[in-house]
Amino acid sequence: MKKILAVAPMMDWTDRHCRAFHRMLSKNALLYTEMVHAGAILFGDQARHLDFDMIEKPLVLQLGGSEPLDLAQAAQIGQRWGYSQIDINCGCPSERVQRGSFGACLMAEPKLVSSCVQAILEAVDLPVSVKHRLGLDAMNPAQSQNDYQYVLDFMLGICDAGATQLSVHARNAVLKGLSPKENRTIPPLRYEIAKQLRVDVQKHYPHVQVLLNGGLSSNSEIFAHWNDFDGFMIGRAAYHTPAILLAWDRMIETNGQDYGYFLNEQTWRRVQEQCVEYTQNWLLACQESGRPERFQLAGITRHILGFAHGLGGSRLWRQQLSDHRLLHRVKTVEQVTQFFEMASAHLRIFSDQSDSYLPYQQID
Ligand SMILES: Cc1cc2nc3c(=O)[nH]c(=O)nc-3n(C[C@H](O)[C@H](O)[C@H](O)COP(=O)(O)O)c2cc1C
Repeated sequence: MKKILAVAPMMDWTDRHCRAFHRMLSKNALLYTEMVHAGAILFGDQARHLDFDMIEKPLVLQLGGSEPLDLAQAAQIGQRWGYSQIDINCGCPSERVQRGSFGACLMAEPKLVSSCVQAILEAVDLPVSVKHRLGLDAMNPAQSQNDYQYVLDFMLGICDAGATQLSVHARNAVLKGLSPKENRTIPPLRYEIAKQLRVDVQKHYPHVQVLLNGGLSSNSEIFAHWNDFDGFMIGRAAYHTPAILLAWDRMIETNGQDYGYFLNEQTWRRVQEQCVEYTQNWLLACQESGRPERFQLAGITRHILGFAHGLGGSRLWRQQLSDHRLLHRVKTVEQVTQFFEMASAHLRIFSDQSDSYLPYQQID
């Protein structure tokens, strides 16, 4: 079976513009929304939370919540909206999320999580997945058989309820004393435990796909673990160095072998053309909807700042893409084209050796 390469769900980051940009880089990457609370879908502005562009598919709607019926109804609405899969967040350690009794603290309630999975599956015809951690607080599945068994039982319960994909952020969530950011760096990564959990889960549920998440920063690192998981979910590295996604379709096709990545002028031009077209379409959609103020060019460019990472001239390129005086002046489709072309004129990728590839060494 082909492996899955996914961009992790990230609040305030993986919004629709970010995902549309990532889709320009990889046709097959699995993309996730930011976490959306089930209540926000049931009682809030559905279009604001759920609208997306069909080009983003395959697209997973990540839900937060702990009420099985609310999650099931929210998932149903997500299915009608056209999402490809529903994911439940059991990994977010923020205090706000804990106060709402969802996210990582759900790892303390395995039966409730299984009921949530079951309720969603009864309501929709989409695959259901769960994203979780290796444990809570001081648990140590590397040293304590009980702690290992705890997380394994958690995963088996989810599979028993019918989930077909698990994404394991391979570190604990510490609910008291660490911020969400610290919770992504301080608890140790334990890939070996995640690997063993996959083996043990698949003894009972061979069809369930287990993805590794946490700390993977390059395609060569993904390749180093290729055979140990059914897929990989990349968060911060995909956001800050999105050019790694350019290799993903080849990696999926070649069973990981072809992970080297070289950026050339042709690729840059292709992506830039797509950015221009996407931005123009968004501008026109905002104007046609009678709310032209919805068009904020910065809301698109902020997600692509990492694309020129490692290229000569990238500092000036980034400066232009985040210069609010320039961004605010863009009001027509012609100005969109000019804006992107002027920015990339700063890049030394457009050199005299235009048909030779420039190695993207910082990444691989
Ligand atoms: C800004 C930011 C927002 C995040 N928001 C979410 C979220 O909404 N749902 C979720 O499951 N994880 C969220 N995460 C965690 C990531 O999905 C991922 O598990 C974590 O960053 C570790 O992967 P990485 O080392 O590849 O970044 C967020 C991470 C970041 C950096």
